[in-house]
Amino acid sequence: MRVRVTMVGTGYVGLVSGACFAELGHEVICVDKDENKIAMLRQGKMPIYEPGLDELVQRNVQAGRISFSTDVTASVKDRDAIFIAVGTPTENGTGRADLKYVYAAAAEIAQATTGFTVIVTKSTVPVGTNSRVFDIAQQNVSPDARIAVASNPEFLREGAAIKDFLEPDRVVVGVEDAEAAEMMERIYAPLLMHGKVPLFKTGIQTAELIKYAANAFLAVKISFIDEIANLCEAVGANVDDVARGLGFDKRIGQGFLNTGPGWGGSCFPKDTRALIATASDAGVRSLVVSSAVEANNSRKMDMVSKIVGAAGGDVKGKKIAVLGVTFKGQTDDMREGTSLVVLPALQAMGAQIIAYDPSHPHEAATLLPGVTMVTSPKDAAQDADILVILTDWMIFKAYDFKAIASVMASPVLVDLRNMLNANEAKRSGFTHYVSLGRE
Ligand code: UGA
Repeated sequence: MRVRVTMVGTGYVGLVSGACFAELGHEVICVDKDENKIAMLRQGKMPIYEPGLDELVQRNVQAGRISFSTDVTASVKDRDAIFIAVGTPTENGTGRADLKYVYAAAAEIAQATTGFTVIVTKSTVPVGTNSRVFDIAQQNVSPDARIAVASNPEFLREGAAIKDFLEPDRVVVGVEDAEAAEMMERIYAPLLMHGKVPLFKTGIQTAELIKYAANAFLAVKISFIDEIANLCEAVGANVDDVARGLGFDKRIGQGFLNTGPGWGGSCFPKDTRALIATASDAGVRSLVVSSAVEANNSRKMDMVSKIVGAAGGDVKGKKIAVLGVTFKGQTDDMREGTSLVVLPALQAMGAQIIAYDPSHPHEAATLLPGVTMVTSPKDAAQDADILVILTDWMIFKAYDFKAIASVMASPVLVDLRNMLNANEAKRSGFTHYVSLGRE
């Protein structure tokens, strides 16, 4: 049954979720105070890079199921469910999530709602936030309206967000009000139809914590395999095979065991910090998650040493070509990417950096001052002393590395995503090949 849904906040989560709810047949308004963003969306232009999103939005605009607005008050009137999907950045210096946008949205929504409305938090918020949202809503709601709250964390990966939304492993809903629970079931009913996707209903605090625990667990899993990669290098084992061998065990699973140059992005760093802060506030030690954060910081610096080692111990005056500056492939997002640590460190040692990224991230100019961004991998490699693969763009697999190696001053490849192997590198003409956990 069609539900009238409003998404407050058209950032990554809000826009993808809004478009997907429309795809499920609901009537969706996406509202944002950023007039430029809404103007772009109305013209069919996407403010973020996500494969498949423009087609999805276009299709649902044409079907009349999704519209865009800057007017919060008008967009939350006569609706069944209002999702809060505004940003929760890390508060300066504390590691905690800054909730001012969430609380401001809650007050604004409550003042304008009519009838029975469920306020659903989609933003990643610390334990206790939804109960505060409920209190704020209660203080602001008009006497003839009724509000309930639900926590509905999202588990989308950038670059695979639409598939992750429409084919989730589970839908988590923290809800205590029976009518709100029924509304959440109606919203997700089209996804649950074939019984393959569980709708896991929990208490509100539990749902809030599941999100942080999931991201922290995945971050720990990656840091674990990164540590095993170091061990593989020392003892002559192959980390890709160790990871596969581990992953056959269903209790471990194959996912998130690809070693890399350290995890980054807008979620794992922020959410691990927030989990540690929540634990500390509650008087609980978070030794495992804290160790993963520490290991990940060292991991990024270890990548600098690896590159310097491949350059023969000194990068001064060397030209280093870099493939990929985003925090991972299939996205234009550079937030907390390894490039932001590794490239400035190499520059400080006197290296000249020329980089190419398939998404042409416009933020590169400000986030990586002094790095020359070029428009093709061959342009980056021209006369370079070393080539570094930093991001796992799938398209790199299809590159003609022979042509790339042929234009380098010295064909040395540092592959920090294990995209090639020693034989492929040799066949492409690289005289020296360094990868992770496979020496
Ligand atoms: C992550 C989670 O995977 C999503 O489930 C979650 O919804 C999202 O955060 C969020 O909280 O919004 P995302 O940050 O888009 O998604 O990216 P991931 O694909 O999880 O990658 C995170 C980092 O781990 C990247 O730097 C990536 O390169 C690295 N990574 C990932 C590895 O080094 N190895 C792996 O095997 C997987």
